[in-house]
Amino acid sequence: MDKLRISGGRPLEGEVRVSGAKNAALPIMCAALLTDRPLALANVPALADVATAGKLLGQMGVAVERDGGRMTLDARRITSRVAPYELVKTMRASVLVLGPLLARFGEARVSLPGGCAIGARPVDQHIKGLQAMGAAIAIEQGYIEARAGRLRGARIVMDLVTVTGTENLMMAAALAEGTTVLENAAREPEVVDLARCLAAMGAKIEGAGSDVIRVEGVGRLEGADYRVMPDRIETGTFLAAAAAAGGRVRLTGAAPQTLDATLAKLREAGAKLAVGEDSIAIEMSGRPASVSLRTAPYPGFATDMQAQFMALDAVAEGTGVITETIFENRMMHALEMQRLGADITIQGTTAVVKGVGRLQGANVMATDLRASAGLVVAGLVAQGETLIDRIYHLDRGYEALEKKLGALGARIERVK
Ligand code: UD1
Repeated sequence: MDKLRISGGRPLEGEVRVSGAKNAALPIMCAALLTDRPLALANVPALADVATAGKLLGQMGVAVERDGGRMTLDARRITSRVAPYELVKTMRASVLVLGPLLARFGEARVSLPGGCAIGARPVDQHIKGLQAMGAAIAIEQGYIEARAGRLRGARIVMDLVTVTGTENLMMAAALAEGTTVLENAAREPEVVDLARCLAAMGAKIEGAGSDVIRVEGVGRLEGADYRVMPDRIETGTFLAAAAAAGGRVRLTGAAPQTLDATLAKLREAGAKLAVGEDSIAIEMSGRPASVSLRTAPYPGFATDMQAQFMALDAVAEGTGVITETIFENRMMHALEMQRLGADITIQGTTAVVKGVGRLQGANVMATDLRASAGLVVAGLVAQGETLIDRIYHLDRGYEALEKKLGALGARIERVK
């Protein structure tokens, strides 16, 4: 199994180009199921999760063609309406086929995702919303069995803010009869990106990006050409790495307007930022100042950035208090960071991080995607060698991470 070897303790210097957003590409790929016309995408990142989504759609009969960052999906002939356990268990976002399949074919069989390393992660809000639109749903042998005639528009108040839940219901509503109003909807930029793609396909959607989304269903959707938005979490990860390790880094092809909460915390840590239309430059000299933060749905501080900022706090001047409010078990990286010499105390879902003068390289284990990113940031600042095991988690969500960091002067390599 591949590992990542990092010899840390050097500042980062140079320029990298941000990839397309994983969390926008996945729902947008699933939106191809809504139409019998080709959906042509650009800026699709080369990630394990994107490959898994391609496989999932492929086994349903979707013709998937890939050429670099371009991808064409043609769901004219669908031969299966099943998302099998083997694929859903490797990628929970597979549940995003549920809404589109049900809306276009009146039938779907999707494995229940079950638990995952960072928490329970149920999909009850997806199911409740589809039931409100007239679907009959049963759970049988670990599968969501869903049936419906044409879905009907409904007013749906979600109990909590769910990103993929909002996306699933928005896609289903696009082909439903009448108007759907989604209240307490997720405001994440990826929801907006999906709404834009759906609009390009002919959907009538208002309010994406606010907590009330209104969808007027249409009889059919067309194909479209769509460019996936830049990845704000990848962007934030590089910025956090530069803030922790020091140096000067410029990110291009980014979407700075989606990163307000992250940029505010970086400034608080003492980083100098220069924000352009689609670029962000960061300069950091000396030790960062510790920052305290609470994760929250967008526009709050992203839970997917929490581990990277814990690494920053680990070497900062002062004490930072980090509270995770989205997932109940998303602090596992703290234990691994302790192996590098970090001073972190966990109380429930809060971490108290006392900055230490230096971290020392060690062997650590990645437990989930963003935890791995946190460990990479920690490894970049630690003196000596850090060996990160189970980096397949990183490949799910970061395109060519070691190449990009290598281009910034980091000594980082993949070892067998
Ligand atoms: C998405 C992102 C993920 C990010 C997360 C939170 C994608 C593909 N993934 O995941 O990177 O970490 O948002 O920003 O976009 N919940 C329920 N019932 C539901 C749905 C969710 O209780 O039906 C709970 C979850 O257990 C969790 C919280 O709501 O505690 C938020 O989850 P959600 O926003 O749905 O996360 P994902 O969409 O799975």
